[in-house]
Amino acid sequence: MYRIAEADSIAPDVRRIVVEAPRIAGKHRAGQFVIVRVTPNGERIPLTIAEADAGAGLITLFVQAIGRTTTLMSELEAGDYLVDVAGPLGRASEIKLYGTAVVVGGGLGTAIAYPIACGLADAGNRVIAIIGGRSKEYVLLEDQLTARGIEVIPCTDDGSYGRHGFVTAALADVIVDEDVGVVFATGPVPMMSAVADVTRPKQIETIASLNPIMVDGTGMCGGCRVEVGGETKFACVDGPEFDAHEVDFELLQRRNTSYRAFETARMDDLQSLDAPHHEQLLADVRGACAAEASP
Ligand SMILES: Cc1cc2nc3c(=O)[nH]c(=O)nc-3n(C[C@H](O)[C@H](O)[C@H](O)COP(=O)(O)OP(=O)(O)OC[C@H]3O[C@@H](n4cnc5c(N)ncnc54)[C@H](O)[C@@H]3O)c2cc1C
Ligand code: FES
Repeated sequence: MYRIAEADSIAPDVRRIVVEAPRIAGKHRAGQFVIVRVTPNGERIPLTIAEADAGAGLITLFVQAIGRTTTLMSELEAGDYLVDVAGPLGRASEIKLYGTAVVVGGGLGTAIAYPIACGLADAGNRVIAIIGGRSKEYVLLEDQLTARGIEVIPCTDDGSYGRHGFVTAALADVIVDEDVGVVFATGPVPMMSAVADVTRPKQIETIASLNPIMVDGTGMCGGCRVEVGGETKFACVDGPEFDAHEVDFELLQRRNTSYRAFETARMDDLQSLDAPHHEQLLADVRGACAAEASP
C-alpha cells in the first residue's frame, strides 16, 4: 500500500500526485517509471516518475485522466492509498554533456520530459524545452522548468499562449539557429515521429521516450513490443527511450489502438454511473485500499 501524501490539479484533467514510496525514491534515476495499480483487481498502468525526493521518501507522478484507471486515480486525494507501485522500472535516460540539449514535450509529454530536462541541466548542459499544448491551460510545468534555469519555448495549437503552432515548427527554427547536440522527444506518437523527421536531415541525435501498452513492466509479457532499427525490443526493459530515427512509429501507433473498443467500453461504463454509484465505486476503492493498508 502506498499512501498519497499530496494531490492537486495542475491543468484540466491532469493531477500531480505525490506518493510515499521511500525505496523507489531512493533508487530512481531520470527517465524511469513505475507500474501502478489503483484498485485491488485493476489493471496496471505505467507512469513516469517526474520527481523523487530520496530524503523525504516521496515520488511525484503526473497523471492525465484519459481512461478508466487514470480517471479513478485522478479522483484520489491526499490520505488515500494506491494498491501497488512497482519500480523504478526501465533504463534511465542517458544523461551526459551534450552541449545544447533540446527537450520537446507535447501535452502530458512535458511531464515525462521534465525529469529528463532537469537531469540534463544538472549535468551542465544548456537546455531548451519546447513545450506544447492545445491551448494555454494545457502547457504544463513552464514555471517549474524556468526555475531550474531551463529556457522554455511554450507553443499552443490555437495561439492562446506562446508561439502559435506545433512544437515541431519551433524545433525546426531552433536547429537552424543553434548547434544542438541532442533532442529528446516525449508525447503523442505522431508528435515524436514528426520530431524525428525534423532532425533527420541534420542527423541530430534524437531520442524518443516510447509509450506502448505495458502490463508487467519487467520483460515477461511482451505487451510493450516495439520495432527499432528492424529489431524487436521490449520498451519496459530495453527502453522506454530509443533512437527516434530508427523507431517504427506507424507500428507503435497501430499497436496502441488495438484495444480501443475495449478501453472505450470500460470508460463508457464508468461515465454511465450516476453520482451515487460513482461515489460508491470510489468509496470501494478507498475502502479496499485502506483495509489492505491497515496492519
Ligand atoms: C513508460 C510510460 C510512461 C508513461 N507515463 C505517463 C505519465 O507520467 N502520466 C500519464 O498520465 N500517462 C503516462 N503514460 C500513459 C499511461 O500509462 C496511460 O495513459 C494509461 O495506461 C491509460 O490507462 P486508462 O485505463 O486510464 O486508459 P485506457 O482507456 O485503458 O487507455 C487509453 C490509452 O492509453 C494507453 N494505454 C492503455 N493502457 C495502457 C497500459 N497498460 N500501458 C500503456 N499505455 C496504455 C493506450 O494508448 C490507450 O489507447 C505512460 C506510458 C508509458 C508506456
Ligand atoms: S510490459 Fe510486459 S514485456 Fe514489457
